[in-house]
Amino acid sequence: MSIEDCKLVEFPKITDVRGNLTFIEGQRHIPFDIKRVYYLYDVPGGSDRGAHAHRGLEQVIISMAGSFDLLLDDGKKQKKFQLNRSYHGVYVCPMTWRYLDNFSSGAVCMVLASAAYDEADYIRDYATFSAETA
Ligand code: TYD
Repeated sequence: MSIEDCKLVEFPKITDVRGNLTFIEGQRHIPFDIKRVYYLYDVPGGSDRGAHAHRGLEQVIISMAGSFDLLLDDGKKQKKFQLNRSYHGVYVCPMTWRYLDNFSSGAVCMVLASAAYDEADYIRDYATFSAETA
């Protein structure tokens, strides 16, 4: 897999005068079963998150409120997304370095993940990531 596999996904949106609704089913709208959901919120202005890769984990990153930038890097190419719609997500494949910044005030970043938390799956050092993707 490479950065070409990391793509913006548009989820179903049921528009309604009472308020819109979006739903996401594992293996239907995203290519894995959802085993874990986590979210970043109350992010102070100017702070950044991420700055790591995962060896096996697949994720989809969604802005549930506000906006932020997502920078992806597979060791050879980079891609940048500005996320600001709760019916958009970015699929992040394994062995992709991700970096999130430019969080707006009130931004909420939700992540759907293919596996439970496992620190052993992380690569937190860019030099190691670079060497492994060379
Ligand atoms: P980390 O993945 O480094 O955060 P970021 O979103 O900036 O990449 O996680 C921060 C801390 O939270 C770290 O100590 C591990 C812990 N954590 C869990 O315990 N469970 C989880 O599902 C996640 C994502 C993180």
